[in-house]
Amino acid sequence: MSEVTLAEGIHWVGVVDWNIRDFHGYITRRGTTYNAYLIQDEKTALVDTVKHTFADELLQKICTLTDPAKIDYIIINHVEMDHSSSLPMIAKYAKNATIVASQRGKDAIIEHYGPDFRIQVVKTGDELKLGKRTLRFIEAPMLHWPDSMFTYVVEDKILMPNDAFGQHLATSERFDDEVDEHVLMEEAKTYYANILMPLAQLITRKLEEVTQMGIPIAMIAPSHGIIWRSDPTKIIKAYAAWSAGAAKNKIVIVYDTMWGSTDKMARAIAEGAASEGAEVKVLKLRASDLTEAMTEILDAKAVLVGSPTLNNGMFPTISAFLTYAAGLKPKGKLWSFFGSYGWGGGALKSMMEMAQKTGFQVNDTSIEVKYVPDKEDLKRCFELGQQITVKIKA
Ligand code: FEO
Repeated sequence: MSEVTLAEGIHWVGVVDWNIRDFHGYITRRGTTYNAYLIQDEKTALVDTVKHTFADELLQKICTLTDPAKIDYIIINHVEMDHSSSLPMIAKYAKNATIVASQRGKDAIIEHYGPDFRIQVVKTGDELKLGKRTLRFIEAPMLHWPDSMFTYVVEDKILMPNDAFGQHLATSERFDDEVDEHVLMEEAKTYYANILMPLAQLITRKLEEVTQMGIPIAMIAPSHGIIWRSDPTKIIKAYAAWSAGAAKNKIVIVYDTMWGSTDKMARAIAEGAASEGAEVKVLKLRASDLTEAMTEILDAKAVLVGSPTLNNGMFPTISAFLTYAAGLKPKGKLWSFFGSYGWGGGALKSMMEMAQKTGFQVNDTSIEVKYVPDKEDLKRCFELGQQITVKIKA
């Protein structure tokens, strides 16, 4: 097994989950990794563990570097089970180890795995001397759980921020300069859009706080995906832009269709928007997934949602989409709605009520068509695409 070294005495001991495609609903089309790091100095520290199904592999990797009984500290930056669920098993072998976590991390460890751990609580600014090396801790509550914290290796300038700056990307390579940059940024964007989007304000504040701390960052080693070593500022800048709501003159049309009427409307709206120079993405749910839809919405200025009426309401896929979008709280988008019905209608009303209840900015024009859109209906759809484009460009 080849060793992956971040700096002298700092090794990646994580695992690659090549085959996961559904990470609690997030579609991980390129798999993921669970990253853990072993720091060997006068004292030895393991930073995070991995999903329990890979605990044996983590243990095996640790054993190639040291006797697990020599681990002095296990840092638990975050208790979500993809990172902590190997703790009970690893702690049995690392029987001399003290667990290090935030106060809420300690509470969550006990709630997940019971009280039988020796846990040292740390807060922002606390340090742990390992010998030549020092670990400094930075609490990051609600980024993205209450317990979350970052570990910073002072002498090597390595930030280990757990979920932050991660990507669900399974690769045989470990560093940013070894992989396709486009794929890496695409997966980083997908990860931000589907996990961190509702935390934009907290992210902006945390980035400012870390900047004010004046800590130099030579490398960012997250808990999923690739390690940023060639230019860590690239992902920091991307996070700053996404959390500030940076968007293009882009329109995302998310819809579903029963007999093709809403599909025809979506295509006419797309043509109208493109004719005014908007970048347009058209996603039919059941052909695309919610993960992709939210990723496209992240840097768009407008979202148009179309649904046929089914049982006096919106189509189930659209209902799921709006529920998911409401939870991720995309900011600063203009929302507009369209759809078709056979007799009583109901989809448009349901969608608009849900959007208003969520607090979305809803466009004053919406379109509902009976049965099949005729030439005049499609002209109205084309014009809606034009109107939205003019608005977002203004
Ligand atoms: Fe990767 Fe919040 O767990």
